[in-house]
Amino acid sequence: MNTQTSLDYGIPVFDNQTVLDFDPSNADPASALFLSLFAQLAPLDASISYGALDTLVEQGGSIHHGPMGQFNQQIAEAAAVPFARIGFMGTSSVNESALGHVMPQLTKAGDKSVVLLDSAAHTSLLAAIAISGQTVVWLNRRYDADLDVQNVPTACAIEAALRLNPAIETVAITSPDYNGCVADIAAISKVCERHKAFLYVDGAWGVGCGIIEGYPANPVTLGATAASVSFHKKGIGLSQTSCLYSRNAAFTTHYDSQSLDHFTTSPSYLALGFAQVMHTELTHGEVGDDWARIPDLHKSLAARTADIHPKIWVLGPQDSGAQTADPSHLLFYLGDIGISGFDMVSAMAQLGYDCEKGTFKTLLILLSPSLLGQEEALIKALHRSVKTCLNRKMVTNHQTLRAINPPVLKNSSVTIRNAKRGRSHNVPLKTACGHICAVSIAVYPPGTPILAPGSRIETSHLTYLYTMQRMGGHVSGIDMTTEEPVIAVLKPSLSAVP
Ligand SMILES: Cc1ncc(COP(=O)(O)O)c(C=O)c1O
Repeated sequence: MNTQTSLDYGIPVFDNQTVLDFDPSNADPASALFLSLFAQLAPLDASISYGALDTLVEQGGSIHHGPMGQFNQQIAEAAAVPFARIGFMGTSSVNESALGHVMPQLTKAGDKSVVLLDSAAHTSLLAAIAISGQTVVWLNRRYDADLDVQNVPTACAIEAALRLNPAIETVAITSPDYNGCVADIAAISKVCERHKAFLYVDGAWGVGCGIIEGYPANPVTLGATAASVSFHKKGIGLSQTSCLYSRNAAFTTHYDSQSLDHFTTSPSYLALGFAQVMHTELTHGEVGDDWARIPDLHKSLAARTADIHPKIWVLGPQDSGAQTADPSHLLFYLGDIGISGFDMVSAMAQLGYDCEKGTFKTLLILLSPSLLGQEEALIKALHRSVKTCLNRKMVTNHQTLRAINPPVLKNSSVTIRNAKRGRSHNVPLKTACGHICAVSIAVYPPGTPILAPGSRIETSHLTYLYTMQRMGGHVSGIDMTTEEPVIAVLKPSLSAVP
């Protein structure tokens, strides 16, 4: 077999051998490259022994040298940040390691430290808190019921929380959020610095940030201690390819030793090889050029909403209290015409479009290079879907149901770790008020928790869960499809822990 060694990872690429039957010439450049790499590299999956890669995880070397060290350097230079670490077990593992293992090593109170946590926290941040045993003070996002969007966290709200609670040593926020809206990281960093708190940003959605023209800046260059990102969300590498950016040397040193303990000693060569080629293409190739065209695509679609329906418009960052947003998130406001985002997702799916999420009043479409040149078809599909929804009156009870405020997360004396590890039992949801929740409960979309482990269940939670379920939302943490849904709560002895 004819082989060549063309990747920095030294992975042999087999010429003229494909494992997939596809025609890359019909695909956009990013998909074509992705598919052709997959076909070439798939036969070589991870667990082969390959001497040159020993240094990947410090077997006989250091992760600062060898192919992995070079790739980390490449990522850091492209993002203009002091340190970058490629991740290969999802952004979840990066978040868990950074917030759950590293922060307690840097903060004075360690495992007993207090974290100010964004209410839009992904489940991996809750897992991080459970790993360490830290205590959470919730930073609740303001919800705008008219537009059905959550506002981004503000420097002002964070300053107030830090003043009220000087024990907070870490602030952890999600930015960009699911809708792509970006918090004012520069102002928030300054506030954190004044109060001697670390700032950790879950930037899973912000792949282009600081790398591609027309996208917001990288949180770390704006002053955050560290930030995570999901490369795979923009096709930069296979699923689970993620990254940690940092500007803090001590943080990075702890992260390196933690990640060796908590990730894997067998990182996938395939995943890393892919990620490196795609990252190079993003920063120096056609893939990056295509992503740089997305801001214009966003603008031109936003200018054509009248062709979809005269009363539909695109929400901008200012509608969520933000100054900037990731342009690959296109958020439509549908609120006043009697159809919901849930129904639009189904109607668009029937036309072959996979919309990212619908809420009661909004529809989110993620723009990618595959939509370049497809603008007209997308507008037509949206127009047809609106008509379908209006004609068929797909929204059950739409006229009677109003968007409802998610209940705010309240601070609890039972830590997330104690609640997760405590003895629990199931009780009927309908009679769960007053109990302490043992699990995390969220409604997707948006998928952020309304009850964390340790939260006291109140009537407002039940009202929200049943209403959102009727509207078309999916409740996670409880099986709402059964006749009598049950919820895991702590046994009374643990609930009473002061
Ligand atoms: C804000 C946020 N953080 C973290 C993650 C976890 O990323 P991964 O699936 O790569 O573990 C997600 C996943 O969607 C996310 O939306």
